[in-house]
Amino acid sequence: MCGIVGYTGRRDAQPILLEGIARLEYRGYDSSGLATVNGKLYVRKAVGRVAELRKIVQTQPLAGTSGICHTRWATHGNVTEANAHPHLGGDGAVAVVHNGVIENYDTLKRELQAQGIKFKSQTDTEVIAHLIASFLDSSPLPPGEGLGVRALVDAVRRALPHLKGTYGLAVISPRFPNVIVGARLGSPLVVGLGDGENFLASDASALVGHTKRVIYLEDNQICVLAPERADILDANAASAHAEVHTLESAPGDADRGDFEHFMIKEIYEQPEVIERAMAGRLDEAEATAHFGGLNLDPQQLRQVERLIMTACGTSYHAALIGEHLFEQFARMPVEVEYASEFRYRNPPIERNTIVVGITQSGETADTLAALRESKRKGQHTIGICNVVGSSIAREVDGGVFLHAGPEIGVASTKAFTAQVTVLTLLAVHFGRMRHLSYQAGARILNELQAMPDILRATLKCHDQVAEIARKYHHVANMLYLGRQYLFPMALEGALKLKEISYIHAEGYPAAEMKHGPIALVDENTPSVFLVPHGNVYDKVMSNLEEIKARGGPVIAIATKDDVHVEAKADDIIHVPSVPEYLQPLVTAIPLQLLAYHIALLRGCDIDKPRNLAKSVTVE
Ligand code: G6P
Repeated sequence: MCGIVGYTGRRDAQPILLEGIARLEYRGYDSSGLATVNGKLYVRKAVGRVAELRKIVQTQPLAGTSGICHTRWATHGNVTEANAHPHLGGDGAVAVVHNGVIENYDTLKRELQAQGIKFKSQTDTEVIAHLIASFLDSSPLPPGEGLGVRALVDAVRRALPHLKGTYGLAVISPRFPNVIVGARLGSPLVVGLGDGENFLASDASALVGHTKRVIYLEDNQICVLAPERADILDANAASAHAEVHTLESAPGDADRGDFEHFMIKEIYEQPEVIERAMAGRLDEAEATAHFGGLNLDPQQLRQVERLIMTACGTSYHAALIGEHLFEQFARMPVEVEYASEFRYRNPPIERNTIVVGITQSGETADTLAALRESKRKGQHTIGICNVVGSSIAREVDGGVFLHAGPEIGVASTKAFTAQVTVLTLLAVHFGRMRHLSYQAGARILNELQAMPDILRATLKCHDQVAEIARKYHHVANMLYLGRQYLFPMALEGALKLKEISYIHAEGYPAAEMKHGPIALVDENTPSVFLVPHGNVYDKVMSNLEEIKARGGPVIAIATKDDVHVEAKADDIIHVPSVPEYLQPLVTAIPLQLLAYHIALLRGCDIDKPRNLAKSVTVE
C-alpha cells in the first residue's frame, strides 16, 4: 500500500507530482505529502485525501524542478500530519517516502535514539531517513551533482542492509539537487524515462501522459535519477541490467464517463470484460480454449495432477469457484489457500502440482510471496492477473491476463467476473486433455459465448435492486447464504457489502448457517439467499424456510419466473436461467448492485472505502 511518485527535470515538479499521486490514491488515502528541492528542502503534508494536500499547496505552493510525493495507507502510527510522509533525516539532509514495512524499526529506532537522534513521528519509515542521513554524514565523498552523487547513493546503499522488511523508497537531498535515489525490496517501483526528465513511481499509472518508456526495478536494485540520466544499479552499486519496456495505454478507461462512481461503471462494463477475457482463446474446432502464456508444453500440461490456487480478498473467492470448475470439467483436485496462510505453511507438495496465483493488481504482497515460495520449492507457477507489467505478472513462470482494463473502484467487480471466466476456460483447457468430451467442451464454449448478452440482460435488475436497498440500508447485520458454486458468491456478496457500506455481513454455506449464524437471525437481520434453479435448489429452499420460520427477512436471488420462491421470500431479484457453473457470473451483478446501492444510501465513499486500499503491498 502507499503510493510514491518522484520527478526530476526542467518543469515545475509540484503539479506533476500531485497529478501522479492522485492516480495512486487507490494504494491508500490516509494522508499525503510532498517535498521539493529548491536550494533547500521544502515539505507540505496533509491528513486525508490528496485533495487536502492540493488545497494546502494552492495557498503555499512549492517551487522546484525535482521532488517526491506520497499517499499513505497507515501501518505504523496513527493517521496524523506528523506521520505523513516524506520523513526527514539529519535535520533535513534527506527526505524519504516509503511503501512497505520495516519490521525491525523498533530496534533501529532505539539504536538511533541512543545516538541522540530525535524522532518526530511514530512511523517505521522515519528510521530509514535517519539511517541514510547518518551514513551521508559519515561519507568521505563530497556533496554535489555528478560524481559527488555517489555519496547519496552510498548512504542509501549502506542503510539498506540494516532494514528487515519490505520497501520501495525514494530519497532526495538538498545537498544533491535534481537527484532522486530509489530502492526496492518487495514493494514495486517503476522508473519512467522522459526527455530531459525522469520519473519514479509505485506503478506506471502515475506516468500516464508523461512517458511510455519504463524500467521495472527489480528487488535489491537501486536507481539514480537526474534530468539527463537514469542509472540502475545492483546492491553493490555496480551497473545492473535494465530492460526498457513500452507501456500500452487504454485512453479513457480511467475516466468515470457518465457514471457517478467507478464501481458502478465497472459493474456495467462486465459484459464487455468477459468478452475480452475470452477473445482469441476459444478454439471451436477443437472444442477447447487456448492460452499462449502458460509456458508448459502439451506433455507437461497432461502431467499436471493437481493445482493449488492462492489469492486474497475477492480473488480468493474466484479461486473457490475455480476449485468447483476444475473438479467438474477437468476432474482435477484443487486446493485453495489464502496466500497469507499458504506462504508460511510448509505443506508437502507432490511433483506435478502447479501453483496458480490469482490477482487483479499483480502486486498483493502475500500472493507474490506465496508464489515466490512455491517457485523456490520448484513448483511451476502461473499468475492469473489483470495488470500487465505488475510484479506477479513478471515473476511467474507462466500467466494469463484478464484484459479487464484498469479497475479503479477499491471493491473489485469486473476483475472478479474476468477471473471466473478465465478459470472456466482454463478448466476446459485442462479438461479437454483429460476426460472432457468434445461435445461437452463445445457445449461449454457455446454457453460461455452467450454470457455477455446474458449479463446485459441481468443488469436490467438494477432498479429492482435499488428499491430493495432502500428497504434494508439501515440494518446492522446481514447474512449471505448459498451452496456449491454459490457458496463462494455468498462470501463475495458479504465482502462487497462490508467493504463499501460498513454493514457487518457474513457469507455462509446455506445449510451450515444452522451451526451458528442462525442465532443472529431476527426481524432486523435480512438474509440474502442465492437460490437459482439447480441441483441443490430444494435444499436451499429448506434453509430459506428455516430462516423465515425465525422471522428473518429474506431477499432471494432466484431464476426468472420462479413462483415458488416468490411466495416465500420478502423480496426477490430475478436472474436469467443459466447452467450452475455460470451462476456465479449472473449472481455477481445483483450482489454488487445491492452493496453499491446500500452504500450509496448510507452516504459512504464508494470508490474509496475507509481503511481499505486497492493494492495491498504489505503483508
Ligand atoms: C484488496 C482489494 C480487494 C482485492 C484484494 C486482492 O483487499 O481491496 O478488492 O480483492 O486486495 O487483490 P488482488 O489485486 O491480489 O486481486
